[in-house]
Amino acid sequence: MIDITDRVRNKDLLGKIVSAEEVANWIQPGWTIACSGFTASAYPKAVPLALAERMKKDPFQVNIWTGASTGPELDGALAEVKGIKQRLPYQTDSKLRPLINDGTVDYLDLHLSESAQLTRTGFIKKKPNFALVEACAITEEGNLIPTTSLGNAASYVQNADTVVVEVNTTQPLELEGMHDVYVPLDPPNRLPIPIVHADDRIGTTFIPCTPDKIKYIVPCDVKDHTRDLSPIDENSKKMAAFTLEFLKAEIKAGRMPKGLLPLQSGVGNVANAVLEGFVEGDMTDLVVYTEVIQDAMLDLIDAGKLKFASGTAFSPSPAGMDRFYKGIDKYRKYILLRPEEISNSPEVVHRLGVIAMNTALEVDIYGNINSTHVTGTKMMNGIGGSGDFARNAYLTIFYTPSTAKGGKISSVVPFCSHIDHTEHDVDVIISEYGIADLRGLEPRTRALEVINKCAHPDYRPMLLDYYERALAATKKAATPHLLHEALSFHTRFLETGDMRKF
Ligand code: COA
Repeated sequence: MIDITDRVRNKDLLGKIVSAEEVANWIQPGWTIACSGFTASAYPKAVPLALAERMKKDPFQVNIWTGASTGPELDGALAEVKGIKQRLPYQTDSKLRPLINDGTVDYLDLHLSESAQLTRTGFIKKKPNFALVEACAITEEGNLIPTTSLGNAASYVQNADTVVVEVNTTQPLELEGMHDVYVPLDPPNRLPIPIVHADDRIGTTFIPCTPDKIKYIVPCDVKDHTRDLSPIDENSKKMAAFTLEFLKAEIKAGRMPKGLLPLQSGVGNVANAVLEGFVEGDMTDLVVYTEVIQDAMLDLIDAGKLKFASGTAFSPSPAGMDRFYKGIDKYRKYILLRPEEISNSPEVVHRLGVIAMNTALEVDIYGNINSTHVTGTKMMNGIGGSGDFARNAYLTIFYTPSTAKGGKISSVVPFCSHIDHTEHDVDVIISEYGIADLRGLEPRTRALEVINKCAHPDYRPMLLDYYERALAATKKAATPHLLHEALSFHTRFLETGDMRKF
């Protein structure tokens, strides 16, 4: 067995070290396991892999709660054996997605900032059967030193009577001190979260726990399975250039300071391109208050452009992770990880005046956003933190390439087939064709702005035709729609495979 004795600092706990198989055999059908992990960072790996092996011979299901998406050793392995019944609050695994969309898995797609509270207060289930948490080390007092993300781990440990710790020897001990753990009290006792700057520390560097709560300790040497970055595509480069141009104009107009306001960016191609754009750009003293810290943040630190980055997960590519570990003494001064209830806190996002930049599946002509459901019914990933930031940010930007599926789908439609963010929360929409600045515009003007600036030229005539007929039919109503036709673009795609075909 891997030697973790130096990482278990309370020597009375050494007797609790067992194999992952022993924990897997202890788990009962129907149990709820509340896991650490946010993106492919700091999720438990050894126990889920052993559990999946057991389920191959002895099929049953458990409920899995996490911070957000995880890596293939958890979601992927358990999806392969159809071992998950309930899953919350977010996921991105390609093996789990079809099971969510065929009724095998009950998926609760939650605002990430609310997920800890929902589970803590018993709105979803009184208590998980146990919390399963990855740690770097266990202290003399029984506290857990987290690894590359915090997610909901602290809240799950607080709420559970029983804790199983995976001590991961691939996670360096230098991570200790990079966390700020603060779990708010629940109403009516909640106090203001005292963060006024992105780098404020308000909690502990460990997840509070006690030796008696820890039932098992499992050694693990499986690395975080973070993803390689795909090369930045042309559309993303264009959207990034529009963003920089737009933000410079905001500074010039006196609506933002020179170093901007704290940046939040979703994950993926566009987010990465935007952040890389800042590396090349001339803005300095940037601050990040976001969920996921990726490779571009390391580039910004090295370029001397970033003052500080606060998030809940550190999830760069494998090459970025190596770079981080090699330069950890430098990078750790710039990066802080918090529970997602704090990194995504509506209160803090609002106070700091965050600039929220997230990607949509589709947008409609009035500025509503669909982030989650492909043609209205099939779950893609989930809302994640996009709602936490979009609703509360100082400036809310959504990105979408103008088309999907090689042009067969227009990502600008008359009416979103599912709405995650309403037009009230959306300030700016950016596609590879341009920027629709919706601030201060009433719906009829917004429609023309979105169509003319963001839609693909192939689809503009169809969208304008819809809008003009809706305007006439409703006698210039506040938000003109032809209700029987509002989803006609989607139904056309479903019937013909191409929104352009009649
Ligand atoms: N209609 C139907 N399908 C669409 C579509 C549309 N309008 N737009 C995109 N798609 C499909 C793509 O074809 C692709 O399908 P494939 O996997 O079969 O190839 C898939 O959706 C993903 O599209 P892609 O362009 O690769 O998107 P992405 O990696 O930039 O992710 C989201 C876009 C919206 C799926 C992703 O950002 C997301 O899950 N967002 C919600 C959560 C969030 O915002 N998190 C960050 C908050 S902090």
